[in-house]
Amino acid sequence: MSNDAPVGVTIVGSANMDIVFAVDRIPRPGETLLADSAQRFPGGKGLNQAVAAARASAPTRFIGALGRDENGAALAATMDDAGIDSTLVRRVSDPTGQAFIVVDGSGENTIIVASGANATVTDLGEGDREALALTAVLLMQLELPLAAVRSAASVTHTAGGIVILNAAPAQPVPRELLDSLDYLVVNEHEACLVGESADLEVASARLASLVSRLVVTLGSAGSVLFDDGVEVARIAAPKVTTVDTTGAGDTFCGAFAAAIAEGMDFADAARFATAAAALSVQAVGAVPSVPQRAAIDAVLTDRTEA
Ligand code: RIB
Repeated sequence: MSNDAPVGVTIVGSANMDIVFAVDRIPRPGETLLADSAQRFPGGKGLNQAVAAARASAPTRFIGALGRDENGAALAATMDDAGIDSTLVRRVSDPTGQAFIVVDGSGENTIIVASGANATVTDLGEGDREALALTAVLLMQLELPLAAVRSAASVTHTAGGIVILNAAPAQPVPRELLDSLDYLVVNEHEACLVGESADLEVASARLASLVSRLVVTLGSAGSVLFDDGVEVARIAAPKVTTVDTTGAGDTFCGAFAAAIAEGMDFADAARFATAAAALSVQAVGAVPSVPQRAAIDAVLTDRTEA
C-alpha cells in the first residue's frame, strides 16, 4: 500500500506487549498472590483496534511507535500478519510499550501500562498528515500523548474524514477535540469521568450534548447509542461465557470503525461491533482473541435467524 493511496481506517494509537497473569482474584494493596500462569500477547489499545479493523476486512493503517527491541519486532510482525499497513510506524530508541495485566477467574482485569515508545508520539510528521487527510475513518484512543491525538483529529476532520475517539484510558477530553469528533465511544467508567458525573445517565446525557454521536458500551449489557443528543438505540449483546475481557472494548471500536468505513449505518455498525466484542471475550489475550470477519458475520446471521 503506498502512502498516498486512500485507506479505509487509520488508527493513531499505542502498541504494547501484554504480560498477562491469570489469578483467582485481583490482589489487594500490599498483597502477594501466586498466578496460575503468565503469558505474553501482542496488545495495546491502538494495536488491538487496528487488528480488529483489519480482521473485520477494512484496509487498515497504523500510526504509532515501537522500540528497536524484541517486543517491537514481535508487534511489527503482528501488524504484518494482520495485513496492517505499518509504513508510518516509527522505530525509536525507547523500549516498546508494555502492559502488566491481571485477569481474575471471572475474566475481569486490571492493567498497568508502561508507555515507553508510545510516549514519543508527541506530534505528526508530513507523511502522517498526508495519510490522515486521505483516510475515510480515523480511530484513536487516549494511550498516546494528547497533542498527537488532537492534531490527528484536526487533520482528518478538516479533510472531511470521519473521526472516532475511544476515550480510553479515561481522562478529561478538551472541548476542541470533542468538537472534531463524529463518534465518541466510552464505557461506563469513561463516560462518568469524561462526562463529569458519577451518575451514568447524567454523564451520558452531557456527553451526548457535546458530540455528534455517542456510544456508551455496557459490557454484557450491550450499548446505548445517542445521535444529536437523543438516545436512538439500545443494542443487546449476545449471551456468552466470558474468559477474558481484555481488549473487548478495543475489538468493539476497531470493528465499529471498519463497519462505518464500509458504509453501515450507526445502529448496524454497533450491532456488528457488539458481535465482534462478544466473540473476543471468549478467548484469552487481546490480539489473539480478536475475531475474523467470517465469525462476526456468522454471529449476526444466527441472531437474525433465531
Ligand atoms: O484495552 C486493553 C489494552 O490496554 C491491553 O492490550 C493493554 O496493552 C492496554 O493498552
